[in-house]
Amino acid sequence: MSLIGVDLGGTKIAVAVVQEGSITHKSVEPTPKDGWVSVLDQIARQVEELRQHVPDLETVGVGLPGPLDFKQGMVKFAPNIYGFENVPVRSYLAEKLNMHVDIENDANAAALGEGVYGAGRGTDSSVFITISTGIGGGIVLNGRVIRGAHGVGGEIGHVTALPYGTVAGSGVVGGLEALCSGTAIARDASFALNKPTTTAEAFQLAQDGHPIAKRVVETAMTHIGTLVANLQLTIDPEVFVLGGGVSSVGDYFINFVRDVAIDRLGNFDVRPEIRLAALGTDAGVIGAALAGRKF
Ligand code: BGC
Ligand code: NA
Repeated sequence: MSLIGVDLGGTKIAVAVVQEGSITHKSVEPTPKDGWVSVLDQIARQVEELRQHVPDLETVGVGLPGPLDFKQGMVKFAPNIYGFENVPVRSYLAEKLNMHVDIENDANAAALGEGVYGAGRGTDSSVFITISTGIGGGIVLNGRVIRGAHGVGGEIGHVTALPYGTVAGSGVVGGLEALCSGTAIARDASFALNKPTTTAEAFQLAQDGHPIAKRVVETAMTHIGTLVANLQLTIDPEVFVLGGGVSSVGDYFINFVRDVAIDRLGNFDVRPEIRLAALGTDAGVIGAALAGRKF
């Protein structure tokens, strides 16, 4: 059976037809900047276009950032998409497309994609952590992602890491996203190095031994490693899957995060199993397609 998945991000909208975890058709367009109606209309256009190639499509799963109201099929607010507040995504798209539509948090969707078809394949439990513009997460147990009682299960980007600190778009003070998202790393590197510096540049400089850049990125990775240890003691998953732009740094990142996590686990004799995401940017659409299935 073919399913359709949508990955709505702050800059791009990806829509794909997915069959058994593989993409057969895909379209990517920029995210409109003039409000949620334009954004949802753009999604509908991309879905209609793909539907012409695959006429038997029945379900659409939409992955999008922010805490969701799963009962109403709405986004409450999206910390990194301006103007996206209380948006009735499910009813608007279902009416427009005359299809079964369901929504899922973007990181939950990617967690599901990775957990079922990617780096977590074959495990019963995995935790996905994505670090790019924001920080998101998803907890997958036995092929299902944990939404939680209030739709905030897996919102690990907003756990408090410092009792006082920068305020993020979520309103949380000293939360992880404000401290070690890609956006935060670029901000801190630019400040510390006194010139505009991207996250990728900061990691490169650090790997080349630049002492200030090292402090910036290693502080950020220390927060992520601490998160891994905390989640190991909360959920104890078989595997952690790291995705998002920042994790493309690869071994330096994974090894540092693992060492911090092991250290933070004290005398608990547990080595967190940490893997890089395997599906790349496609995890979101693949998982969203799964999330849209009718049960
Ligand atoms: C949002 C999450 C989302 C993550 C990645 C965070 O700011 O709160 O819901 O998964 O960004 O997009
Ligand atoms: Na999530």
